[in-house]
Amino acid sequence: MAVTRTFSIIKPDATRRNLTGAVTKMLEEAGLRVVASKRIRMSRGQAEGFYAVHKERPFYNDLCSFMTSGPVVVQVLEGEDAVKRNRDVMGATNPAEAAEGTIRKAYAESIEANSVHGSDSEDNAKIEIEFFFKPEEIVG
Ligand code: TYD
Repeated sequence: MAVTRTFSIIKPDATRRNLTGAVTKMLEEAGLRVVASKRIRMSRGQAEGFYAVHKERPFYNDLCSFMTSGPVVVQVLEGEDAVKRNRDVMGATNPAEAAEGTIRKAYAESIEANSVHGSDSEDNAKIEIEFFFKPEEIVG
């Protein structure tokens, strides 16, 4: 299986509860390596642009407000089959449906405040990485 990259966000509900290390530990234990990381406060424009695919969904405005409500940690993760590996350790979007051993089962507060984002395809991973990182900020 090829070594690939994916994009991750530790969301405001997790940074607020000081869970950056705990979440990162679960990512690392799942076989992912953090090759870029920065703590930022997302602007409204960044959140709206990042989630543009959900623009027509009823939760879009609340989601953008939530994502700008506190610091987030944006990360590039590297590993074998990184997109799937990350999605597996994240767990289901709704924590009520998330499997044991997943980040969302352990830490998510609700379907909105669900602690982590992870790219859902290799193509989106590339787009999302470029949205937040310059090439020189990624050190493999
Ligand atoms: P989605 O891409 O469906 O899930 P995932 O993060 O697992 O890839 O949705 C993006 C985010 O939108 C999700 O993490 C939280 C938010 N969201 C809601 O607030 N309410 C909802 O009903 C859904 C489906 C998502």
